[in-house]
Amino acid sequence: MSVAIPPRPPIKSTEVFKKDIFEGKVLFCTGGPSGICKAMTKSIMSHGADAIIIGRKVDKGEAAAKELSNATGQRCVFAQADVREPEQLKAAAKKCIDTFGKIDFVICGAAGNFLAPISGLSENAFATVVRIDTLGTFNTIKATLPHVRRTRGSYIHVSATLHYYGTPYQAHVSAAKAGVDALSNVLAVEEGPRGVRSNVIAPGPILGTEGMDRLTPVGKKDAITRSVPLQRQGGLDDVPNTAVFLFSEAANWVTGQIIAVDGGAMHTNKGSLPYPDSVLDPEGATKSIRAKM
Ligand code: COA
Repeated sequence: MSVAIPPRPPIKSTEVFKKDIFEGKVLFCTGGPSGICKAMTKSIMSHGADAIIIGRKVDKGEAAAKELSNATGQRCVFAQADVREPEQLKAAAKKCIDTFGKIDFVICGAAGNFLAPISGLSENAFATVVRIDTLGTFNTIKATLPHVRRTRGSYIHVSATLHYYGTPYQAHVSAAKAGVDALSNVLAVEEGPRGVRSNVIAPGPILGTEGMDRLTPVGKKDAITRSVPLQRQGGLDDVPNTAVFLFSEAANWVTGQIIAVDGGAMHTNKGSLPYPDSVLDPEGATKSIRAKM
C-alpha cells in the first residue's frame, strides 16, 4: 500500500526572518491594493517597513491601506494612479516622499490579464495589457528611480512563467511579461554601479488571486496541484517570502535575476493552467487545441 508523502507546508516569512529587518524602510507598490502585491506589502510591513500602495480604485485602495496598517502596526497610505499614466505615477511618488520622506523598495506589480486566443485579440486588447504590464513598469521605474538612487534601494518586478513556453490564450501577457523581464535586467545593469538592485519574481499559479480566479476553470484545481513538483499550489505567503528575501540584505549580491516561485512547475512539460471551456471558439483555430485536451 502506498503512503502519501505530505507536501512541504507553506510558511510565513516572519517565521524565518527577523521581524525588524525593514525597520525605517519605505515600500512603493503598484497593484498593492489586492492579490499577490497586497500579500507582499503585508509581509514587508510585517518586518517593519511603511508602505504606499498604488491602484486605480479609491475605495478599494483606501480600505486595503487601512487593513494593512491594522494588520501590521505600520503606516500605509494609498495613492490613486493608473500605471499607464506617467504623471499620475509621478504624483504617487511625490505623495510617498511627502508622507515618508523617501523610497527604499519598489514593487512593480500592477498587471492586467484575461484569456483570449490571438485570433480573438484586437490590437487594442493586446496593447492594453502591454501598456499596463510593460509600459506601466517603465513608468513606475521612471517615477521612482531618482528617489531609489538616493537610498541605494531595490526593485522587484512581478512577472510570470507563462512566457517561457507557448502558453495558449496568453500572447498579450506573454509579450508583456517578456518585456518586464528585459526591463529589469537592463535596470540591474545600468543602475548596479549606483547600488540599486533589480530582480524579477515569476510566480506560478497562486491561489486566492484575481489572476487565478480569472484563469482557472472551476473543478480543475486538483489537476493543477498534482502537476506541481512540490505537490501543492502556491499560496499568498509563498511569493511574499521571496520578496522579503530579495529586499533583505541577505540578497545584497543578487541583482538581474528572475526567480520563479512556482513549486518547480515551469520545468514540467505541460502548462499548469488548463484551458477553460469559455474561451474555446468552436469555429476558430482553438478547436483543435480543445480536441487535443
Ligand atoms: N477577451 C478579449 N478582449 C478583451 C477582453 C477579453 N476577455 N477583455 C478586454 N478585452 C479588450 C477590450 O475589448 C478592449 O479592446 P477593443 O477596444 O478592441 O474592444 C481592450 O481589451 C481594452 O479593454 P478595456 O476594458 O477598455 O480596458 P481596461 O483598461 O478597462 O481594462 C483589462 C484592462 C482588460 C486588462 C482588465 O481586465 C483589467 O482592468 N484588469 C485588471 C485586473 C487584472 O487583470 N488582474 C489580474 C492580473 S494577473
